[in-house]
Amino acid sequence: HKLADYGDQRLRTNARVSGWTDVGPAGRGQPQAGRKEAPVGSGLIGQSWAMLFASGGFKVKLYDIEPQQVTNALEKIRKEMKFLEQSGSLKGSLSAEEQGSLISGCLTIQAAAEGAMHIQECVPENLELKKKIFAQLDQIIDDKVVLSSSTSCLLPSSLFAGLVHTKQCIVAHPVNPPYHVPLVELVPHPETAPATVDRTYALMRKIGQSPVRVMKEIDGFALNRLQYAVISEAWRLVE
Ligand SMILES: NC(=O)c1ccc[n+]([C@@H]2O[C@H](COP(=O)([O-])OP(=O)(O)OC[C@H]3O[C@@H](n4cnc5c(N)ncnc54)[C@H](O)[C@@H]3O)[C@@H](O)[C@H]2O)c1
Repeated sequence: HKLADYGDQRLRTNARVSGWTDVGPAGRGQPQAGRKEAPVGSGLIGQSWAMLFASGGFKVKLYDIEPQQVTNALEKIRKEMKFLEQSGSLKGSLSAEEQGSLISGCLTIQAAAEGAMHIQECVPENLELKKKIFAQLDQIIDDKVVLSSSTSCLLPSSLFAGLVHTKQCIVAHPVNPPYHVPLVELVPHPETAPATVDRTYALMRKIGQSPVRVMKEIDGFALNRLQYAVISEAWRLVE
């Protein structure tokens, strides 16, 4: 709670300084007029981000290199939302049907990026593949979009090396399953603009996640390092 409060205080200060007011004032779960978020890669993590963004009332454009994967993802998401609604665990204040109608699929990365305010890369953990995706997005986007990676451990300085829009790039590392575990660590590139961190922080809060700011990139980020220390200790206890 202390960390979250600290984050909110910084956010208010930075928002005042930069005049930034990008995530609208509507309550959580209300439709966010004109805002669109785009997960790139519709596997496990891409689907979870899509559901979380929709729970916050955001329009979502889901993209995958495999068109069938998008179709399957949309079907799975709608079924999952219905199930969560019936069991009383659906996030946000919109119904499963309303949230489902906010999510659609597309066949090209250009269509995903068009009009998006936040693009969340969710392709497999492969540096060259992710770099290729960010290089493509770098050529398409303007200077208002946040480019975010779901990477579990690739460093921002490797992922975003040589991009024109590095200031708009960040890692937002979720915890599996992201829909049920709210922690997200935000890891900046050394050149990431404070406004990019603030916008991502605010978006995460808006969709009900608990973002933590990691002040600089570090091998394994913070979560993996803490998690692996606990796992190693658990093994030692078993031994
Ligand atoms: N699964 C986890 O527990 C977990 C937790 C935190 C972070 N992550 C990270 O999230 C990212 C995604 O993981 P995942 O588990 O969802 O993987 P996944 O294999 O379930 O999904 C990846 C999707 O990306 C698609 N894809 C491949 N190449 C593509 C391209 N060029 N353009 C668009 N789409 C493409 C694939 O078709 C697939 O649908 C990874 O970086 C992973 O490290 C995963």
